[in-house]
Amino acid sequence: MQDSGSSSQRKRPRPLVLDVHVPAESRSYPVLIGRGMLSRIGTELRQRLGGANSVALITDANVARLHGAAARSALEAHGFQVVPIVVPAGEAHKNMPSLLGVLEQMISGGLGRRDAVVALGGGVIGDLSGLAAALFMRGIPIVQVPTSLLAQVDASVGGKVAVDLPGAKNMVGVFHFPLFVAIDPEVLSSLPDRELAQGLAEMLKHALLFSGDHLEQLLGRADAIYARDVDVITPLVATSVGLKAACIGRDPWEQGEAGKGRVLLNLGHTMAHAIEAASNYEVPHGDAVALGLRAAARVSELKGVAEPGLEPMVTQALARLRLPQDLDAWLVGDRGAAVERALAVDKKRVGGTVSYVALARVGEPLVLPLTPREILGLLRQRAQMPAE
Ligand SMILES: NC(=O)c1ccc[n+]([C@@H]2O[C@H](COP(=O)([O-])OP(=O)(O)OC[C@H]3O[C@@H](n4cnc5c(N)ncnc54)[C@H](O)[C@@H]3O)[C@@H](O)[C@H]2O)c1
Ligand SMILES: [Zn+2]
Repeated sequence: MQDSGSSSQRKRPRPLVLDVHVPAESRSYPVLIGRGMLSRIGTELRQRLGGANSVALITDANVARLHGAAARSALEAHGFQVVPIVVPAGEAHKNMPSLLGVLEQMISGGLGRRDAVVALGGGVIGDLSGLAAALFMRGIPIVQVPTSLLAQVDASVGGKVAVDLPGAKNMVGVFHFPLFVAIDPEVLSSLPDRELAQGLAEMLKHALLFSGDHLEQLLGRADAIYARDVDVITPLVATSVGLKAACIGRDPWEQGEAGKGRVLLNLGHTMAHAIEAASNYEVPHGDAVALGLRAAARVSELKGVAEPGLEPMVTQALARLRLPQDLDAWLVGDRGAAVERALAVDKKRVGGTVSYVALARVGEPLVLPLTPREILGLLRQRAQMPAE
């Protein structure tokens, strides 16, 4: 395939194209995954949005420095006037002041209702830009160009966009499905290992929920992933996106009955949210999910829905993927008390119980209605008390 708009002489394989079907919108949006996708975003956008003149290219300060120029030239090569908008990096900026700042820059940059937003960055940028696109002139198209592994396998796919309120994550948001998602695994070469691990936690979640094969691949290729081997990462990202896509395709608007659809994607997240809140958001999301996955395995075993051995298996997987494993540190003492308080205010609680996602085995999730007290009681049954 011609590599228009890129000065690179390297022969690039045609990107693998994965089509995410979103039936509720009576359309589907493609997730384009492949080496060199960043250099193709202009071509892809021009094909789908012939009439657009301007594009707001929203990114954070880190990603702007590393990949901003490549994205900009890919868009300019296809005649788009680029309005660059750079937000400081970090979750602290996924808020209402940033949203207003972005919207104001879209107006002053001359964007119109036929134009589009390109979100180039991690999940913070994807969520913030998606909400800005949804609100601007009652909604203009958003293209998601995720640059963190977490955003590639999770945040960019599914159409959920939001910003945080003080002390309340993702509290102001809507569904705004992307025009397309462009995933270039090559950009992961600049992503720090700690950030890569955050995405691996969500990939492990997808594997535990839906696919023993994916689990085997992920664990067998962990070192190659950390070495940023694009040939290894590309199919793994595609599989993980495909597993999430199939799940949200069954329940795009998160209205599925208990036990089906999007609710399953909360595997590990009940405890993850509690640990994040208890740590004042100092524990990153993927690390918290890692501990939450171990918790889900323990609860599944102790409720008798899974065979013994699931928790040690998940713990080994976490070690292999260089993710934290010390769940017990969050069950006792001051941290345990803070987790208990956070669990009690979990926003997904209905009538005193949480829809707790458990596993009968790998690839076989189920939902148990449990109270926060029952969850903690089960987890503490097996918690090792600290030495002193
Ligand atoms: N919408 C959804 O469905 C959904 C799902 C999961 C998570 N999220 C949201 O995603 C956010 C977390 O996403 P995240 O982990 O990507 O955080 P992030 O956007 O803060 O990115 C993490 C860090 O990596 C940097 N970075 C990103 N790409 C890089 C690259 N290629 N090279 C070097 N540095 C790079 C960023 O600048 C940032 O410092 C949270 O706000 C969470 O709520 C949303
Ligand atoms: Zn998550």
